[in-house]
Amino acid sequence: MVPDELSARRLARWTGRLAYGGDYNPEQWPEEVWHEDVALMRTAGVDTATIGVFSWSMLEPEEGVHEFGWLDRVMDLLHDNDIKAVLATPTAAPPPWFTLAHPEALPITPTGVRLIHGSRDTYNPAAPAYRAAARRITRALAERYADHPALALWHVHNEYGTVSYGPVTDEAFRAWLTRRYGDLGALNRTWNTAFWSQRYGRWEEIFAPQATQYLPNPAHVLDFKRFSADLLTGCLDDQLAILREVTPGVPVTTNFMLPTWNHYDQWAFARRVDQVSIDHYLDDRGPAGETHVAFGADLARSFNAGRPWLLMEQATTLVYDYAGGRMHPKEPGRMRRNTLQYLARGATGSLFFQWRSPQVGAEFFHSAMVPHAGPDTRIFREVTELGADLLRLAELAEPPDIGPVNDHRVAIVWQPDAWWAADTRAMPSSDIGFLDAVRRAHTALWNLGVNTDVVDPDGDLARYDLVLVPSMLAVSDDQAGAFDAYVRAGGHLVVWHFAGSTDEHLRVRPGGYSGAFAPTLGVRVEEHVPLAPDDTVALDDGSTAGAWTELVHLAGAQSVAGYGAGTHLVIPPGAPAITRHRRGAGVAHYLSTRLAPDALERHLDRIRSEAGVSRAHEAAGHGLEVVRRRAADRDYLFVLNHTSETRTLVLTGTDLLTGREFDGPVELAAGAAVVVRETGSTP
Ligand code: GAL
Repeated sequence: MVPDELSARRLARWTGRLAYGGDYNPEQWPEEVWHEDVALMRTAGVDTATIGVFSWSMLEPEEGVHEFGWLDRVMDLLHDNDIKAVLATPTAAPPPWFTLAHPEALPITPTGVRLIHGSRDTYNPAAPAYRAAARRITRALAERYADHPALALWHVHNEYGTVSYGPVTDEAFRAWLTRRYGDLGALNRTWNTAFWSQRYGRWEEIFAPQATQYLPNPAHVLDFKRFSADLLTGCLDDQLAILREVTPGVPVTTNFMLPTWNHYDQWAFARRVDQVSIDHYLDDRGPAGETHVAFGADLARSFNAGRPWLLMEQATTLVYDYAGGRMHPKEPGRMRRNTLQYLARGATGSLFFQWRSPQVGAEFFHSAMVPHAGPDTRIFREVTELGADLLRLAELAEPPDIGPVNDHRVAIVWQPDAWWAADTRAMPSSDIGFLDAVRRAHTALWNLGVNTDVVDPDGDLARYDLVLVPSMLAVSDDQAGAFDAYVRAGGHLVVWHFAGSTDEHLRVRPGGYSGAFAPTLGVRVEEHVPLAPDDTVALDDGSTAGAWTELVHLAGAQSVAGYGAGTHLVIPPGAPAITRHRRGAGVAHYLSTRLAPDALERHLDRIRSEAGVSRAHEAAGHGLEVVRRRAADRDYLFVLNHTSETRTLVLTGTDLLTGREFDGPVELAAGAAVVVRETGSTP
């Protein structure tokens, strides 16, 4: 793709204001309601509506028979009211007629159960009939609306992430393996199929790893996860090809579900679309909710190469309590504060799921912009106030091509492979997990007031002063070499226990665990000592740790903290737990145990200070969130007080939310926020 074309598309529908709105499903309502909808949208300052997300059966009620009349009227109505349409391809919800016509395209679970429609996402991404039907409806939509003035952005599918097993998948998996390995000998060697009599003599003997008697082969499982991710990338590519052919000037996105949904490769998706967009839902009512927002936003921006990204869905007043089976309301003011967090970290606006609460249907008690109780509600008033705030912040809406909007000096490595590798089972402890380790690292930095990106291990590490590798089990020789070169050139690297223990095929590197990083770290890890869930150990610097310990020998590194007496008979008192290795012009640190949150913060603070990384503001941290967002010729300092106390800090500039001028100490009440155009920046 020619970069200029990409830029042209990105800029094509740039309007100079922050997007505000949500998923809009007018087909679920009589047309009188549509007129009330757009009137309320105008009241709330809504300028964007995402339409058609699951509308396939309404658009194509019978195979090949299209009913676009209602959508024509919706598009016209939006345009007449200055509301842009983010038009979705409806391919995440094939209609019931599709099930009857193509039972072979239904998804099959790992235990062999064939699912039937009645919900959504009822398709197998490997099924040729599904792929063909998805291409047809995409083309029909693109041709119908190519020239419609309301069309601002294509929203491909919805949250790619469907995984299926069974005969159709087996065939596609075999084709993928044939391309990857060329011959069965290479596959047998790589997967070590001599273990448990798994040697394959013909490709037809290989199946997708459905439920089996006991532990599956982890190399087989990892390759299946890679295959499933490639399959979804193929589904995305199918639609991108059509949309770019028929509507070359219209930018395209697909909404990533973050950060718990990991059946696709976010970096591969991000390279393909014109703009990254994410869906993000709070999973905690306490301060952990705020770290969750920051985390999702940092992922989205980083996937989009540091550029502005779109928050495609959040909830007006819902916090998922998955374990407790509850949906809790957000307290007044929280939706606004969270939205400012997303904006600080690069969002180009905020859309919600969804505009109006349906009277019945799945998710009918999900929160919405217009709740069941109607517009005369706390929720709609907060929605309207937020719309007014977004207008006050309109100057943040830089053309999406401006380049990185934050200038963070720290990055956490994010790699889908690392997650999949840790999820293959048969690991020495169920406490070894990728997302958990990354979240802990991100939260520690958030508490320290240090803002961070995530980085692709195959990307540009040299941009950062400090790179963290919380858990990256499978590391290729090339990746190990790149990390080592980064350190030797002056970078600071922190590697967590167990990372680098295998190569990219999940084969353990002989000679010591964390072997891919051994020369960089200057340690040899002889033995793993996982702990029971409630066990803790004390280090001799006063730190507490849990979950995991290791018998570590120094091979060039120095010990910074040792295991305390009585840790475990395998580990002698004083044996290294945390190490530091000067390598070339840089330094590599190793954390051989899972530090308790306060200890992790203390050590990361020491390390970031040695790396010369400063905090976002001297007052930042532990609930006072400070983030600088850059625009072409100006800087904005977002300050959000998530704590329950008034906080004071020195600020200079103009608060865009209130127009107040600051030049000195500013008191920020509990829950309050300011967005300061910093002095020296021209509006
Ligand atoms: C999203 C999805 C929406 C809606 C929402 C509920 O993941 O895209 O369609 O289901 O979750 O939280």
